[in-house]
Amino acid sequence: MKTVVCPGSFDPITIGHMDVIKRASALFDKVIVLVATNPDKTGFFTPAEKCALIERVIAHDGDIKNVEVQLFSGLLVEFLEKNQITAVVKGLRAISDFEYEFQMALTNHKLYTKCETVFLTSSAENMYLSSSIVKQIGALGGDISQFVPMCIYEEIHNKLTSKQ
Ligand code: PNS
Repeated sequence: MKTVVCPGSFDPITIGHMDVIKRASALFDKVIVLVATNPDKTGFFTPAEKCALIERVIAHDGDIKNVEVQLFSGLLVEFLEKNQITAVVKGLRAISDFEYEFQMALTNHKLYTKCETVFLTSSAENMYLSSSIVKQIGALGGDISQFVPMCIYEEIHNKLTSKQ
C-alpha cells in the first residue's frame, strides 16, 4: 500500500490545497495531510484549529475515504522515517514556488535518501491562491467565500474578522 504525506502550514486550508489533496488521494492508496511547523511563518490559526478545519472538509466531502489528518511539530523527514513513508506530495503553483519547493525536496532527500517528493501542478484556477492572501482579504473585510471550502467558510471568516 502506497502512503504519501501532504505536508503544509494550512493556515488556513484553501480550495487550492483541497484540490491537490483530492488529486493525491486518487493517485495513492492513502494520503496523510500533515499539519507541520514552518519556522518562517507565524500561524494565525492554532495547530488544533487547522487540523479540525481540514478534518471537517474531508468529512464533508463524501468522495475522499483515504485521507487522514495528523499534526507534527518536528522535521518532516523524522515523521517519514518513523512511519516508514517515502513519498511526499506538494502542490506547485507558479515559478515563484519552484525554488523554495526544490530546495525543500532536495534537502529532505539529503536528510533521508528514501524521501521522494512528487509535485502536482496547481489547477490553473487556483494558481494565484494562498493562505496568506485569504487571511489578508478576510481580515480587511473582503469576501473569502470563493477561496475556502464552503463548509468551513463561517469559521474562517469569524476568526479572521474577530478582534484578537
Ligand atoms: O505550507 P508551507 O508553509 O509551504 O509548508 C512548509 C512545510 C510546513 C511543509 C515545511 O516548512 C516543513 O516541512 N516543515 C517541517 C519542518 C522541516 O522538516 N523543515 C525542513 C524542511 S527542508
